[in-house]
Amino acid sequence: MKAKAIAHPNIALVKYWGKIGQQNNSPAVGSISLTLDQLATTTSVEFDELIENNRLVLNGKPARDKQFRRVSYFMDAIRKRAKVQLRWDIQSDNNFPTDAGLASSASAFASLALAATHAAGLNLSEPQLSALARIGSGSAARSIYGGFVEMPPGQSDIDDPAAVQLEDENYWPLCILVCVTSTTPKPVTSRDAMRLTQASSPFYNAWVKASVEDLDQMRSAIRGRDLDAVGTIAEHNAMKLHALVMTSRPPLVYWNSGTMSVINEVHRMRQDDLHAYFTIDAGPQVKVICLDQDSSIIANRLQSLSNVHEIIKAVPGPAARLVEVCS
Ligand code: PMV
Repeated sequence: MKAKAIAHPNIALVKYWGKIGQQNNSPAVGSISLTLDQLATTTSVEFDELIENNRLVLNGKPARDKQFRRVSYFMDAIRKRAKVQLRWDIQSDNNFPTDAGLASSASAFASLALAATHAAGLNLSEPQLSALARIGSGSAARSIYGGFVEMPPGQSDIDDPAAVQLEDENYWPLCILVCVTSTTPKPVTSRDAMRLTQASSPFYNAWVKASVEDLDQMRSAIRGRDLDAVGTIAEHNAMKLHALVMTSRPPLVYWNSGTMSVINEVHRMRQDDLHAYFTIDAGPQVKVICLDQDSSIIANRLQSLSNVHEIIKAVPGPAARLVEVCS
């Protein structure tokens, strides 16, 4: 019983930040994302009676305790559902920096949900997989689908879809330039930072309230294929999120000098009539959103910034998919 799957991370255009309850990552706010084609996680899962101890290898190295516990909790949910008692062996590899604010947990748990359910003999629908993936990481529910995806707020049952596709990956040739400003793992995970913010930022309730309007506006901007509207809302939503983390106690700053350089350059490009916008998840990397036709000129300007290590060009990417199943 063995299966391998690939999933892509997604960038949140309107962000999930804050949970309801303690378990299973039920979001306090809705979110809208775009799945990215160039970045990918490949995960293989095997259940076998000859496996003596559960094993998790991430990017070629044994997982740390915290990662192991998180995956064990997730695998227990799958084993229970599939009525499988066997121990497991998991190998997962990213083709991009891990735990650095590039949504590696989204593609990790989406690919794990797909590979592990097939290895356990389950054949779940996409909505069921998205609900399952959310148990591992909130944003993973969205990486089950390609293109533009919405995850509504609130608690839902294990069989209710956690996220739904708004438009597929062929809907609109946008380009996302991922500006990598650091490759080291972030000091505080999104999970811990969300808890901290929720408990201590004076702006948390305002964030939750304002998310409804951001979602409405983002849905209609996507419907109208209006880059300036999508970019303006995404940028404003990202700034609100970082204002929240900066005003938590103790304060948390995910940005570095490269992050600031990209923000300033994007603003300068707009003064020069280039249509470029940014968003930033829980880390120092900046994702610049533009039309595919403008991407070379925008990438050249970003490339010239001394504290940007690398620029990865991505376009809207497909759903999570199986690449191998053997029994
Ligand atoms: O799913 P998590 O626990 O990695 O949290 C995701 C948090 C953000 O990336 C900042 C926002 C989002 O909606 O993806």
